[in-house]
Amino acid sequence: MELGGLDAVGDAPIGAGVNDAHVAALRAKLGDDLVLSGPDVERYCRDWHGDVTTGAVAVIRPRSTDDVSAAVKAIAALGLDIVPQGGNTGLVLGATPDDASRQVVISLERMTAIRSLDVDDFSAVVEAGIVLSEFKDKVEAAGLYFPLALGAQGSCRIGGNVSTNAGGINVLRYGMTRELVLGLEVVLPDGSVFEGLSSLRKDNRGIDLKQLFIGAEGTLGIITAVSFKLMPPAEQVATALLGLNALSDAIALYRRARRDCCDLMSAFEFMPPVAFTLAREAMPDLAMPMSGDYPAYVLMEISGSGLVDIEDLMQRFLQGVMEDGLVLDGVVAGSRAQARNLWLFREGMNEGQAKRGPHLRTDVSVPLSKLADFVLEAEAAVMEALPDCLCVSYGHVGDGNVHLNVLPPSGLTREETAQRIYRAKGLINAVLLRFHGSISAEHGIGRLKKPEFMAHLPEAQSRLLGAIKRAVDPNIIMNPGCQLNFTTDS
Ligand code: FAD
Ligand code: LAC
Ligand code: ZN
Repeated sequence: MELGGLDAVGDAPIGAGVNDAHVAALRAKLGDDLVLSGPDVERYCRDWHGDVTTGAVAVIRPRSTDDVSAAVKAIAALGLDIVPQGGNTGLVLGATPDDASRQVVISLERMTAIRSLDVDDFSAVVEAGIVLSEFKDKVEAAGLYFPLALGAQGSCRIGGNVSTNAGGINVLRYGMTRELVLGLEVVLPDGSVFEGLSSLRKDNRGIDLKQLFIGAEGTLGIITAVSFKLMPPAEQVATALLGLNALSDAIALYRRARRDCCDLMSAFEFMPPVAFTLAREAMPDLAMPMSGDYPAYVLMEISGSGLVDIEDLMQRFLQGVMEDGLVLDGVVAGSRAQARNLWLFREGMNEGQAKRGPHLRTDVSVPLSKLADFVLEAEAAVMEALPDCLCVSYGHVGDGNVHLNVLPPSGLTREETAQRIYRAKGLINAVLLRFHGSISAEHGIGRLKKPEFMAHLPEAQSRLLGAIKRAVDPNIIMNPGCQLNFTTDS
């Protein structure tokens, strides 16, 4: 039975089934500095929520691309498999091993250098292990802006972002991570290096091979460095939290904002009223931003630079939508600190849910015009079958992407919790199928969503994905438990 995710790995003690000769061989080949084993591997084998703890033969922590290459060759020579890892915030168990006797984690956490940052070119080359927020800060210090932004940005790492093609709150203006990547350096499963760190914006010399590795969740190679586009910084930012009557009004508001604020809208997030409770369970000191209670909330941001007056644009926009009754009430942040406080509610609600224990986390997308109907139908199906559970729907309205999570009540046994999670997932997926949506809008497949992914994978896609995998990784050593069911003879 599934518990918030991975059941297959159970609670085997760290190190169970590990062959000491494998560890000794890795140490002999790579040196003690690069290899962790025994209890030291534990923190690399636990998912972000703490729902699942697994084990690994060892954890390798390379300091350079050459180290990664040597590690891949050494692991392959022992007939073992590789699980690449960034910040391990992925939420779908892609970076958490599931076979402690065969899998070696390669963590990129020591490869954090910014190799170059070119302000004239609006680009940077950065190593895969740098934490996203550190990279953003360094880019800002250089007078530019890197727009990828997500709640986990203080922990997730660039290689993980590229390998999951991460989304986040700025997608509606800047696109998914894929849109920001100019080039990649990747260590392939035979230890050779794909050297593609170009900073060219336009390059149509045939098939764009770097795209293979973006969103591949470590199944085709290990990304060691990335060349990114950078943007001019937004000198003006207006952030508003708005109270509305319903999610359907949030979608109407989004359409209106797309027209009225042209391309200057940079975020438009939907939250339910319980978001404030959840965020304050994680961060009790958060000051409540609004006095009234509303059925739905939108956190929106408009930003820009140059001659546009962003504050005036926000004020005029809000005046119009309040006169029309689309927005019932709202607050506009008067400072960066106030804006940050508003965002902490959006970010803190993830941590608040994690504190409530194992629960169902979904990451679905449907066409924007269908989003409100989808959420209404899916929540109604869950509430009818599981009246003691709490539905928490929130997310990236502008992208048609909602996280419809289901929290079982406290006090249940592990088995009872697992049953509710399993049931809720089936109910939501059945509604999603009718809406022709995706089970993964931005988090990827990992190990967690593999059964659902495989169940609905069209034959032609399966054949193509299998052919690519066999061509790049014929011995199936790269993250074999993740995404597709690959075997060496399939
Ligand atoms: P990991 O979890 O370490 O790895 C993810 C996958 O990539 C694994 O399959 C792993 O094997 C592979 N991988 C990691 N590094 C490499 C590498 N160098 N080479 C090859 N493969 C590699 N995601 C969103 O898209 N949008 C959000 O808004 C968002 N918000 C989040 C908020 C919170 C609080 C949390 C906990 C997570 C959130 N996520 C979100 C999910 C997660 O942060 C992203 O998927 C992120 O991109 C994962 O980065 P990571 O470094 O933690 O990757
Ligand atoms: C978010 C994560 C869960 O949007 O994707 O908060
Ligand atoms: Zn999200």
